[in-house]
Amino acid sequence: MNTAALEHLPRVSASVQYLVPMAEKPRSLEYEPPPGVSNTTAVYRAHSVDIRDVRPVAAGLSLEHEGFQLLDSPTSVTDFADEETIRTQYYAEAICLLKQQTGASRVVVFDHTIRRRLQGVVDRVAGAPRQPVPRVHNDYTVKSGPQRVRDLLGDEADGLLQKRFAVINVWRPIRGPVYDAPLAITDASSVAEGDLVATDLVYPDRIGEIYYVKFNPRHKWFYAPAMSRDEVLLIKCYDSVNDGRARFVPHSAFVDPTTPVDAPRRESIELRTLVFFD
Ligand code: OGA
Ligand code: FE
Repeated sequence: MNTAALEHLPRVSASVQYLVPMAEKPRSLEYEPPPGVSNTTAVYRAHSVDIRDVRPVAAGLSLEHEGFQLLDSPTSVTDFADEETIRTQYYAEAICLLKQQTGASRVVVFDHTIRRRLQGVVDRVAGAPRQPVPRVHNDYTVKSGPQRVRDLLGDEADGLLQKRFAVINVWRPIRGPVYDAPLAITDASSVAEGDLVATDLVYPDRIGEIYYVKFNPRHKWFYAPAMSRDEVLLIKCYDSVNDGRARFVPHSAFVDPTTPVDAPRRESIELRTLVFFD
């Protein structure tokens, strides 16, 4: 991205939570911990960063350079409370969109998460909706990207892993415009490999791995102010090709100091997808 153009973008100053470097590999529990048990060994520290309005430069973004895109992409789905509609209609739309945007030959949507923010509620509490993630992270690592293919696609995995694939999240407001707890995304080209810290995610039935992220003043942060439900963010969380292109795109929800006090709380859906290339 052109540095001169960046200087003129509107921006907000906000705080995001970065990992404090630690000797051990961090681990977090992805379920409600037993009473008295902390859900993570990681320690975070808030850093104040400039988060720029991405809209004026959105047309120039690519999944190969910055690792994310903001697209106009209205959905025909009106009721995101209906799981069946999501799994059929919404997944099908996302597959079309990703094929069209990336030239992929095959797209597998393997998961979705709906987040509805509630004041004072932490994530992964039984009976409460999933919450925005207020920590800088990238969903997959050099290890867990291919592991997902093996876990989900069994016998086909060996063949698929011979070729290029990526993990791409499709993030959309389900009630817009979003003023509350928006998602901030880094330009992947501003993130150094050494900023990424592999962390175990312990689920009841498996151990996954994500990256938490150490602070680096070079990180360039962006967001789409007042993002509407006709827009999506594509966020690449893994690419099997290691040739300098974007592979990991740290992101985090944040408290926007310009949010109107009466703004409705954020509601969003994100899909996780495997994108295969011939
Ligand atoms: C994601 C993600 C967090 C949020 O889509 O991968 O981290 O607050 N979302 O929406
Ligand atoms: Fe994420």
